[in-house]
Amino acid sequence: MESQALQSNPSDGTVFDNRPIGVFDSGYGGLTVARALQRRLPEESIVYFGDSARCPYGPRDQAEVDRFVQQICSWLTERDVKMIVIACNTATAAGLVHAQQVFEVPVVGVVEPGARAAAHTTRNRRVGVIATKGTVDSNAYADAIRHIDAGITVFSTATPRFVEIAEMGLRMSEGPIEDFMAEATKVYIRPEFEDIARQYLEPLRRCEIDTLVLGCTHYPLLKALIGGVVGRPVTLVSSADETARDVDHILTRRGAHAEPGHVPTASFFTTGADTEEFRRFGGRVLSRPMDVVEHVDLPAV
Ligand code: DGL
Repeated sequence: MESQALQSNPSDGTVFDNRPIGVFDSGYGGLTVARALQRRLPEESIVYFGDSARCPYGPRDQAEVDRFVQQICSWLTERDVKMIVIACNTATAAGLVHAQQVFEVPVVGVVEPGARAAAHTTRNRRVGVIATKGTVDSNAYADAIRHIDAGITVFSTATPRFVEIAEMGLRMSEGPIEDFMAEATKVYIRPEFEDIARQYLEPLRRCEIDTLVLGCTHYPLLKALIGGVVGRPVTLVSSADETARDVDHILTRRGAHAEPGHVPTASFFTTGADTEEFRRFGGRVLSRPMDVVEHVDLPAV
């Protein structure tokens, strides 16, 4: 593939880079970050990789997820991406540092942006974090939040079933049950999902948090459910917008934005067998249609 890196505009000497940004997650969750990127940086092309065949990452061993991160970053760099966004908290916690050490392009994760959003939002300096088991066990959020403000108390809880509920809710939100759909989240919420959410979130409510980090990129899909259970005084924060801002700043500093007027492309790949399903559900998360989704086989690591 011919590289389009760092071309300069002869009229004013500005530098631009039309290569795509690589974005990946274990499935649909990272599309919440891709959506924020497309909104903030509408001229940037995106290559999105959803590792649906190996979803969920949350219960897996950190070393295994780190190997997935290395493998997917290699796959993306072969597609000549100019930077990589690890749009998965579990993968960020397990593999961001290693990926930054190995790959030449900038690699950003979603934990630090989410931590920053929380630290800047809380007033009573009591922050809750809900995430997968892998992310909570890594302590990545608590470390990142306290790195910004050591006076913040962080209460973390693993809420692994939320990934399953988000993916299941996407599948269920068509047809006659449409009435129950939480419009803002595009995910169907069953009454028993509320019971599960209450069990997970009640202990955090008792800790008198005023800010709750949705520390998994799937969870913004459940914002209506989670917000309904934790109640009004708690502000929900997620990484997507803050990560898109970081990407914007990095591209600015490196002179690596796409050329003004560049018509972006968006390509989607999944390791899952059902590309049509990924296209349908993914388009709902992205809030715009996906034209084509291609299947990718990655060797076992
Ligand atoms: N979306 C991923 C995250 O942000 C987790 C989903 C999974 O467990 O695979 O952590």
